[in-house]
Amino acid sequence: MNLILLGAPGAGKGTQAEVICKALNIPAISTGNILREAIKNQTPLGMEAKTYMDGGKLVPDEIVINILKERLQADDCKNGFILDGFPRTVPQAEALDQMNVRIDRVVDIEVADEKITARLSGRRVCESCGASYHTQYKPSKVEGVCDACGGKTVQRKDDHPDTVKERLRVYHEQTEPLIDYYTKAGKLVVVEGQEEVADTTALTLKAVEA
Ligand code: AP5
Repeated sequence: MNLILLGAPGAGKGTQAEVICKALNIPAISTGNILREAIKNQTPLGMEAKTYMDGGKLVPDEIVINILKERLQADDCKNGFILDGFPRTVPQAEALDQMNVRIDRVVDIEVADEKITARLSGRRVCESCGASYHTQYKPSKVEGVCDACGGKTVQRKDDHPDTVKERLRVYHEQTEPLIDYYTKAGKLVVVEGQEEVADTTALTLKAVEA
C-alpha cells in the first residue's frame, strides 16, 4: 500500500502516520522529520532549510523532491510506504507522478484552522528522540521530560502563533490545490479529524482498507 496523508499543519498527519505504519507494517516518511534531522546535524541542507521552516514557508520544491526520490529508493519502501507531508505543492505531486511511483490512496485529514492553532500551541517535542506530546491531549508523565528517552521536551520554533498563522496561509495557498488534484485522479478520501486521536485512527484505517 502506497499512501499519502494530506492535511493542514497540525491536522494530525504525523500522529496518524506513526500508528498506521505499525498497523500496515510499512515505513512512514516525513519530509519534515528528515529536514529537522538535517538541521539538528547542521548539514548544508539543514542550514538552508532552516531559514524557510522557521518562517513557516515551504522549502523549495527541488530540494524536497530530491530528498524524497532518494528516500523512496531504500529497501524498506519495497512493500509500501506512507508519505507524511509530501507532496505539498502541485509541482511536487507532478514530480511523484513522473517518478512512476504508484499511489493507491490519498487520505486528507480535515481539521478547522481554529482547532489547529490550539493543537500546535500545545505541542511539545523531544529534543533528543523527536517523540511528540501535547500539554493537554497527550502530556508526558513528567512535564518537560520525554517518556521514551528522558530527553527535554520543547516547543517547535514553527509552532509559535505567528508562524502557525503563516503555515496555515501557505497551506491554503499551495497545498490545498492537491485536494482537487487527487480528487481528479480518483484517489482522495476525506477523513474528518476527531477530538480523540484513536477515533481519527479508526476512520483513517477504514478509509485505507476500503
Ligand atoms: P512538517 O513537520 O511536515 O509539519 P506540518 O505539516 O506543518 O505538520 P505538523 O507536524 O505540524 O502537523 P501534523 O499534521 O503532523 O500534526 P501532528 O500529528 O504532529 O513540516 C515542517 C516544515 O518542513 C514545513 O513547514 C516546511 O517548511 C518543511 N517541509 C516539510 N515537508 C515539505 C515539503 N514537502 N515541501 C516543502 N517544505 C516542506 O499533530 C499536531 C498536534 O496535535 C500534536 O501535538 C498532537 O498530539 C495533537 N493532535 C493530533 N491529533 C489530535 C487529535 N485528534 N486531537 C487532539 N490533538 C491531536
